[in-house]
Amino acid sequence: MRHLLKLSDLSPEELLSLLNFAKGIRRRPADYSSACAGKVLASLFFEPSTRTRLSFESAMLRMGGNVVGFADVSSSSAQKGESPEDTCRMVSIYSDIVAVRHPVAHTPEKMAAVSRIPVINAGDGANEHPTQTLADMFAIHDRFGAFGGLTVGICGDLKYGRTVHSLIAALAPFASTRFILISPPELAVPGEYLDGLDGRRLIFSPDLEKNLPELDVLYMTRIQKERFQDYAEYHRLSGRYILNKEKMRRAKKNMIVLHPLPRVDEISPDMDDDSRAWYFKQAEGAFFCRMALIMRLLGLEREI
Ligand code: NCD
Repeated sequence: MRHLLKLSDLSPEELLSLLNFAKGIRRRPADYSSACAGKVLASLFFEPSTRTRLSFESAMLRMGGNVVGFADVSSSSAQKGESPEDTCRMVSIYSDIVAVRHPVAHTPEKMAAVSRIPVINAGDGANEHPTQTLADMFAIHDRFGAFGGLTVGICGDLKYGRTVHSLIAALAPFASTRFILISPPELAVPGEYLDGLDGRRLIFSPDLEKNLPELDVLYMTRIQKERFQDYAEYHRLSGRYILNKEKMRRAKKNMIVLHPLPRVDEISPDMDDDSRAWYFKQAEGAFFCRMALIMRLLGLEREI
């Protein structure tokens, strides 16, 4: 049995084969309509979510499976003080696979340690969000057909943005890809997520406009308001990066703009109709990636 707790649980080969499998499902989704018949997904969201939760649940339902769980922690026994591990022990009895989001980093790992069924990390605090990265990589692969040789700009809250940490882990093995990490110094990527990365592949900059013309991929992120202890600090740092139609004139014609969503003000809606705005397409791909992942972890993977 395997879990997906952090991106590095997947080797680059496994990641690529999972993306290929997801592409196969996208080509003929109807063929998978009973692929998970009789299986149950437990969807445990201890933190707010729209896309991630609904796409996991919808992925399972569209493969003929069922879903149990909660979207609001106030309706679960966590409210009475139950530990996530105990919740997971119980859920292992009722279901075949778990997707969990939790505000405290590494909680999915603790749950997996006592679980009889596969556990998927759907976002743990400011640590990782590996299934969002599947969607990010799916979009990049769709657009460029490969991951090498790209200049990837990641902009915004690189400290608390868990999707950023997983994305760096996913792209790190592709040695010819360079990162331009664009943030104020206070929101820089914590060193632990850059461990082992050759410094020559990394540029740190506070300036989006200066770096924009160089980028093949621009990954914009929201300043993660809910992770700040000090709201004055949030207000000081928010609103700093706003990508819009005007700025996009300086970007390459064949680059793409990604965002894990939800956006606040960092991407102006005036550029949604730009052919380089890929963030909604990216969200669509997430659905097929989650179908592929559920099938793989349940041992049901097959090309139909
Ligand atoms: C992200 C998350 O939850 O980390 N959202 C998502 O799942 N697509 C990004 C964010 O909330 O900013």
